[in-house]
Amino acid sequence: MRILSGVQSSGKLHLGNYFGAMKQHIDAQEEHECFIFIANFHALTTVQDAKRLAALTHDVALDYLALGLDPNKACLFRQSDVPEVTELAWILSTVTGKGLLERSVSYKDKISKGLTPSMGLFTYPILQAADILIYRSDAVPVGKDQEQHIEMTADMAGYFNNTYNCEVFVIPKAKLNDAAVVPGTDGEKMSKSYGNTIDLFGDPTAAKKRIMSVKTDSTPVDEPKDPEKCSVFALLRLFADADETNDWADRYRKGGMGYGEAKKRLVELFETTIEPARERRAKLADQPDRVEAALAAGGRRARELAQLVMRDVRQACGIVVARTGLPGG
Ligand code: ADP
Ligand code: TRP
Repeated sequence: MRILSGVQSSGKLHLGNYFGAMKQHIDAQEEHECFIFIANFHALTTVQDAKRLAALTHDVALDYLALGLDPNKACLFRQSDVPEVTELAWILSTVTGKGLLERSVSYKDKISKGLTPSMGLFTYPILQAADILIYRSDAVPVGKDQEQHIEMTADMAGYFNNTYNCEVFVIPKAKLNDAAVVPGTDGEKMSKSYGNTIDLFGDPTAAKKRIMSVKTDSTPVDEPKDPEKCSVFALLRLFADADETNDWADRYRKGGMGYGEAKKRLVELFETTIEPARERRAKLADQPDRVEAALAAGGRRARELAQLVMRDVRQACGIVVARTGLPGG
């Protein structure tokens, strides 16, 4: 099965990104053909500072490599190293009705949070569909908030195949995992734009403080508590094994346990999981050429496949391009 997914380079990555998306990408490399990319074209909808965007893009690569993505197993690349996706996005936009995009929950959400309603933000799902379809991806591991974008992608693949009476595109499916929504420190969905994140590679003392500040209700220590309604438990279960998770659930239900205890254990689990990655990340940060070489090699591999699929796309819709002998020509 061919798996593809991407994460925007629009800010520091957090536990929601890790458990909702990145962990699935890293796990998938063992069994599947994996394409994982850094969505820097998409990030332009929110980051409009050249130095910052370039640095954030490099940081996402460091995060993935430190967390265990192996560039010899998975193809890790920058979205912008495959410029054909923007050509495909245009072609898809000509077979896609405006109504489909107007139903995008993520667009409405972003506008309500004050983001500028640029054309880029509005047509964001079309570029995302191009990202997925250009590699004929079968499955797209993402968090729940991206599910609609994958459904829209399947729609767009169908519009193209029907319009040109062909089967150029594979219809992809979203692949959600148990951590579909990771709560933030305030109990809402953890998100860069809500200021409620626990960053993966921030200062360890700050991470500890953030964990200790996760919002809980005011049930007294002695009384039984409902683990299913507690954000600390929701985070704890992401790190702990099944036995430990059941144990904590029992302790919650029995009463006599304060939320502080669960938070302290969460801090420990966070540290044991992240510390080895933090060390690997520091070493990689000193070798920018090695990271760049891995990205460049991934970009070449991804682009080769994208060019093959684009040949079929252009042929299906009658777009003729001169052979220039230049890259992509
Ligand atoms: P943010 O909301 O912080 O801007 P992104 O939209 O860049 O995060 O999300 C990148 C990936 O991480 C997506 O696949 C998304 O589904 C996943 N993700 C982000 N936040 C969460 C969360 N709180 N729970 C589960 N998955 C998440
Ligand atoms: N929209 C995704 C996000 O915000 C990022 C993304 C862009 C993506 N293109 C993609 C995810 C293709 C999966 C597949 O997280």
